[in-house]
Amino acid sequence: MCGIVGYIGNRQAGPILLDGLRRLEYRGYDSAGVALCGASGLHIVKKAGRIDNLRQAVDAAQPEGTMGISHTRWATHGPATDENAHPHPDQGGKLVLVHNGVIENYQSIRDQLAAKGHVFHSQTDTEVLSHLVGTFFDESTEKDGTQRLVGAVKAALDRVKGTYGIAVMHAELPGVIVGARLGSPLIVGLGKNEHFLASDVAAVVNHTRDVVYLNDYDIVIITREGYDVQSHQGTPAEVKVSRVEFSADDAEKGDFPHYMLKEIHEQPQSLRNAMRGRLSRDECTAVLGGLNMTPRELAQIDRIILAGCGTAYHAAMVGEYLIETLSRVPTEVEIASEFRYRNVPANKNTLQFVMSQSGETIDTLAAMREGQRKGIRCLGIVNTVGSTIARESDGGVYIHAGPEIGVAATKTFTSQVTILTLISLLLGRIHHLSSVDGLEMIDELEALPDKIVTILKQADKIKAIAEKHCHAEGMLFMGRQANYPVALEGALKMKEISYIYASGHPSAELKHGVIALVKPDMPSVFIAPDDAVFDKNVSNIEEVRARKGPVIAVTTEGRTELERITDDVIYVPECPGYLTPILNVIPLQLLSYHTAVARGCDVDKPRNLAKSVTVE
Ligand code: AGP
Ligand code: GLU
Repeated sequence: MCGIVGYIGNRQAGPILLDGLRRLEYRGYDSAGVALCGASGLHIVKKAGRIDNLRQAVDAAQPEGTMGISHTRWATHGPATDENAHPHPDQGGKLVLVHNGVIENYQSIRDQLAAKGHVFHSQTDTEVLSHLVGTFFDESTEKDGTQRLVGAVKAALDRVKGTYGIAVMHAELPGVIVGARLGSPLIVGLGKNEHFLASDVAAVVNHTRDVVYLNDYDIVIITREGYDVQSHQGTPAEVKVSRVEFSADDAEKGDFPHYMLKEIHEQPQSLRNAMRGRLSRDECTAVLGGLNMTPRELAQIDRIILAGCGTAYHAAMVGEYLIETLSRVPTEVEIASEFRYRNVPANKNTLQFVMSQSGETIDTLAAMREGQRKGIRCLGIVNTVGSTIARESDGGVYIHAGPEIGVAATKTFTSQVTILTLISLLLGRIHHLSSVDGLEMIDELEALPDKIVTILKQADKIKAIAEKHCHAEGMLFMGRQANYPVALEGALKMKEISYIYASGHPSAELKHGVIALVKPDMPSVFIAPDDAVFDKNVSNIEEVRARKGPVIAVTTEGRTELERITDDVIYVPECPGYLTPILNVIPLQLLSYHTAVARGCDVDKPRNLAKSVTVE
């Protein structure tokens, strides 16, 4: 959670930091603050609420300085108030720090420092870290100022338990910013006579595309002229300069009113990007070199574990269905946050995939590390290039969906499911799919983007349906087989951005309890494609109708008979059953989007949420 941006150079830092924060606002938007260091000393401006509040306060205060650190917060300790916003100064007021993460033992350190006379002005865990670094700095006898600050940061980090990405500066050292990470992402942006620190490349990509992704336990010193990465553990740090693939424009809304809508509409292209170069018509299979596994090694795999959180978990559930149906390899899905605390039996032929848009979700990262500890080969299915999961996994597949800024995941779900389909094709061909079967799958996969365009053309119709039901007390989402996870995903989208309580269920479970909720202001959304269980879904729709529950159906073009027994029908083009989740989820994304807009909700920044969950 949260976004950090630091700048040191020859330009005024204020506008650069505010622009960076705006680009990172999807990571946290409870409160925000900046600290600048200039000729007239240190200036701190911080405000509860959105970046715009901070911008107004900065405009009024006019702080100046060519170096600074800034933060957009997702509160863990203490509510979103001006006082709790970062940056936090130390006791003497000369050192300031911003922090992403959680200091678990903050209370005992706070008590010890308070006993020595420290006065705290916030309820955050972060302020304790700031005071601790300040104390070590003040007590140090080191002559070199930079070394003194680095030493103080190291000494303080030795004392804390928890996770952090931090940026620190001191009023008496106007040429240095120190950063460090453990469990929370931090990158260095490399410019000409200027350097940046940020928790995400999106903050710096309009200034530079050359970045260094820091590793856990790295400490970095940035100056105007250069940067130096050291390992906190005393071992030499591994430094690799990477080139960011996307441009600043890719992370802008363009003509769309919200990122979420833009990202929904990007799906024909994001799917093409996921498949590009990965389908071989000669071999009638998928080519996934990043897995780093030979067909012989893949043939040995007798069990697959798929782990992820939220939307990625739902994509994994679709993946279980796909892999088992198409390749017959037994597959289990694990919520990453549970997996990390379970004792899952594994053997040398187990393969684990960890799925994550951000590649930074702490629970998913921990699930991967737990798998690796057990000797399981762990592969990532990740969107963010250079993210921690991408770097620490034993291989994997980038989904190449481009930046996803809307907090509600959309295009990354369909891209994750597409990659899982490619994996199923690859494994299926190794086991028992014929070349003809493989070729047929390739044809069907390649036809998907155009079919998505057809669905997107129905946006106005879906908007009208959303407006009709936007005052519903709750919503039920039903689906069977691989569309049960789609029901879960539809319900998650609805809850996240419209705040309407929604739940997803296997259609047949209705009569085992959920039907008690059915009533006129509780619409049910049925995902009922033209498949082997279509008639079963129809019976479930009748059960809801009999109890006066409104029904919205998502079905295959041609199944017009649903119009007689439902209130609204949304048609999607025909495709094989295993691909229906990719198409069926799109009307549900649009339904939740338009419901949220009709209810006046902040679609891209839903309350209490943040895009990337880097705290437990
Ligand atoms: C999706 O709409 C959510 N915001 C959330 O459930 C998300 O999918 C989850 O936090 C996992 O994120 P990741 O893909 O970045 O790991
Ligand atoms: N734990 C810190 C706080 O509550 C940092 C939270 C964040 O990552 O934004 O202020």
